[in-house]
Amino acid sequence: MAATADHSTTGASAPAYYVSTPIYYVNDRPHLGHAYTTVAGDVLTRWHRQRGEKVWYLTGTDEHGQKIMRTAEANGVSPQEWCDKLVEEAWKPLWEHLEIANDDFIRTTEERHTARVQEFVQDLFDKGEIYKGGYSGPYCVGCEEFKLPSELLDGATEDEKLCSVHKRPVEWLEEENYFFRLSAYGPRLLEFYAANPDFIQPASARNEVLRFVEQDLKDLSISRSTFDWGVPLPWDEKHVLYVWVDALQNYITAAGYGSDPERFAELWPASVHLVGKDILRFHAVIWPAMLMAAGLPLPKRVVANGWLMVGGEKMSKSNLTGIAPTDLTSHFGVDAYRYYFLRAIPFGTDGSFSWEDFTARYTSELANDFGNLASRVAAMVGKYFDGALPAATAHGEAEQAIADGLARAVDTADRKIGEELDFAGGLAAIFEFVKQVNGYLTEQEPWKVAKDDSEEGRARLATILYTAAEALRATAVLLNPVMPSTAEKLWTSLGAEAAGLGALSAQTVATAADWGRLPAGATVTKGEILFPRLEEKPAA
Ligand code: MSP
Repeated sequence: MAATADHSTTGASAPAYYVSTPIYYVNDRPHLGHAYTTVAGDVLTRWHRQRGEKVWYLTGTDEHGQKIMRTAEANGVSPQEWCDKLVEEAWKPLWEHLEIANDDFIRTTEERHTARVQEFVQDLFDKGEIYKGGYSGPYCVGCEEFKLPSELLDGATEDEKLCSVHKRPVEWLEEENYFFRLSAYGPRLLEFYAANPDFIQPASARNEVLRFVEQDLKDLSISRSTFDWGVPLPWDEKHVLYVWVDALQNYITAAGYGSDPERFAELWPASVHLVGKDILRFHAVIWPAMLMAAGLPLPKRVVANGWLMVGGEKMSKSNLTGIAPTDLTSHFGVDAYRYYFLRAIPFGTDGSFSWEDFTARYTSELANDFGNLASRVAAMVGKYFDGALPAATAHGEAEQAIADGLARAVDTADRKIGEELDFAGGLAAIFEFVKQVNGYLTEQEPWKVAKDDSEEGRARLATILYTAAEALRATAVLLNPVMPSTAEKLWTSLGAEAAGLGALSAQTVATAADWGRLPAGATVTKGEILFPRLEEKPAA
């Protein structure tokens, strides 16, 4: 878990802004698709921390079920050994590398999870929400899900049917299982969606769920007896719990359900469950129904992101298109990586990754617009004022336009990133402001004003450079959730902390637009280049 700012800014029992990612299957190593959601959640939670709110960010791993069991078998190790290895060697190190500031990491094989899961299902069983029955149908191990015949694609032979997500043959499963009375929850779910129009986002995801629930819901098979890699049902240990019913509960077991009532009251219901669009029904239909059955409150929002695509298909390990995030961070750097996907793809829609597009944005937005601005301003304060930030004694209309532009950028970014999860829109607003500051310098031509030694000339030059440095001060605050290392470098180069403003993490979004926070006299130094020129593209 990466180090984070002090989160304890509010009282112990105030509700926290709680965001979760899906917990990832550890049958394989993470690829760009997994990192996409985790970075988005990290930016969202860092943004709320920057608002001064109490925040809790949860991620973790989904370790039971047939898919993991078969992978372990194929690799000649026990499922637990396989999970331990992948979690420690692949998943946790990646999140650290990407500077993910999660507050907890839950693994579904941990006892703090399995013990609570057993209590939860026992409670549903005792309430008559679970019964024994039989089921047969096509099952996709990749999805760990029974499929409807109408959802399948034709395979190579007449009898073969393929999963539409994995493009792999489904298996016929016939078992005596325990069932959850999901069918009873249709009307209550529809009522809930109607009363909470923001519960499922974006609108396309909401519509899909509504259409699905408006048809008759079927009861859900929640146990398996043909293999044993899972949580045993406490009342019938020949069965293990269906991996999805086990996994969904991570959101409450990690939050203290059944173990720490005070913490649970503070954290639950979650503010946002971030999910990929392929796992929307589990989160927006099955999970809410399970919570209703248990008498627990429902999460406030389920937000579905689209897929990262390669060659028109969902990027995935199973079709060998999974790209490791480190293949990109080694070239572009971690901060540019965190920025790129959120800036380039509107959250909620599918998007394609391309090396060329990443390079173009890196060069024009990060290196030229933003990085150059920071280094030019620091260089000029060094050259014309020996590195001591001068006071703005001639603040006029042009400067006020910058201060106003900043207020607009903060307002828009706070709404779009903090509330609407429109990361692309929020970043666009911040970079619009960076462009405005560049335009201001081009118009004001401080390098020409510097030739005027009169008192008036010096005051003008001081004002221009102060204005640009103050704009950068605010930009560092706004970009801190997205590019924490870069923002920190900028903060150091502006001498902001030493001048009395305090740590970057202690700055709030609410005061970011208060013009004139950076004290005159701050020691501005050139510091590192924020976005160095890219090397040649490595050979494939
Ligand atoms: N273990 C379940 C989730 C349980 S949550 C209680 C699972 N795991 S997964 O590892 O297969 O997928 C996790 C997430 O990664 C899903 O939200 C899925 O949408 C996302 N992605 C996998 N490939 C993706 C892309 N190519 N693009 C974007 N996200 C994708 O499902």
